[in-house]
Amino acid sequence: MPKPDILMTAPMHPSVAQALEPHFTLHRLWEQDDKDSFLDATGPRVRGIATSTLFGRVEDALLDRLPALEIIASFGVGYDNVDAVSAARRGVVVTNTPGVLDDEVADLTVGLLLATLRQIPQADRFLRDGQWLGGSFPLSPTLRGRKIGILGLGNIGKAVARRLQAFGVTIAYHGRSVQPDMPYEFHSTLVSLASACDVLIAIVPGGANTTHLIDRTVLAALGPDGVLINVSRGSVVDETALIAALEAQTILAAGLDVFENEPRVPQALLDLPNLVLLPHIGSASVHTRAAMGQLVADNLLTWFATGQPVTPVHESSHLLSAPLRGH
Ligand code: NAP
Ligand code: 8YV
Repeated sequence: MPKPDILMTAPMHPSVAQALEPHFTLHRLWEQDDKDSFLDATGPRVRGIATSTLFGRVEDALLDRLPALEIIASFGVGYDNVDAVSAARRGVVVTNTPGVLDDEVADLTVGLLLATLRQIPQADRFLRDGQWLGGSFPLSPTLRGRKIGILGLGNIGKAVARRLQAFGVTIAYHGRSVQPDMPYEFHSTLVSLASACDVLIAIVPGGANTTHLIDRTVLAALGPDGVLINVSRGSVVDETALIAALEAQTILAAGLDVFENEPRVPQALLDLPNLVLLPHIGSASVHTRAAMGQLVADNLLTWFATGQPVTPVHESSHLLSAPLRGH
């Protein structure tokens, strides 16, 4: 039996290629000088894609060149880089990497919240610049007495909430549905959550349903002592409205791991003092990125061995109850 052909769209964590290489013929799209001729010659044989949220969208134009495609395995729990509904229409299953990164991203979220409130990076810069010799670092805002609103009480949102409970703060959340088994106050609208809280943590999926969910109105509701922490997707926050709110001090501060047009970050954000900015590192530890890479590989391995992926996205579920192509 020839090994199945897998197309990797851009360089990925080395654990992915290491796990796939013995079992598949791996094609590295970015290494092809003439991608068009390559896709003409090899596209019809490609049965799987390995890709990542970091590389931009898997476009329909590419899928059109891969008529034998069965599965797209994406690196990352968010999969707004793939149109999973359109893939399902083509009979193509999409997988992501949920679960293995929850603790890592939740740790980072709490770290970013504390860094933003206690101004840890600013204090570090103060010391390095020799300013301590001239006096103490100014007193910072605090987490004490705050009410935290979580937008998206999913796997990661729950891991954040569990950690924050140990800090003695009050927690509330907003999502499209109430979760009756959760001990936190539910708000049926995001504006209501923002009005009730003075920290808003965004950890929802990206994509059309959540674009600019956090807009001028939500930021106004958060108020002048309000802090925004965004670890979801840049698209969830209206960045122009956020810049305006920070400049006018209608909110206090923000901690951002994601940006609308990353890796490009607007100069206005770089210039503002009341911000902590991170280069999308929520899951970016050696340990967790290796686990994510292994899960990408496991999805492809089990799909081609058994016809069942490990972690399909919900848009693909109806494909999996039907008899599977080629298995
Ligand atoms: P998850 O378990 O699927 O949880 C997503 C949560 O968002 C659910 O509670 C869902 O609740 C809520 N939600 C979905 N659509 C919504 C909407 N339109 N309005 C309000 N709430 C909505 O996902 P997860 O594993 O926690 O990951 C969440 C996201 O975090 C990922 O999709 C990704 O974009 C981001 N992320 C970022 C990093 C990073 O490095 N910064 C790392 C990992 C993940 P309802 O269904 O009740 O609405
Ligand atoms: C990664 C993420 O940075 O899982 C996600 O949705 O945003 C992060 O874990 C990203 O997936 C790397 O491609």
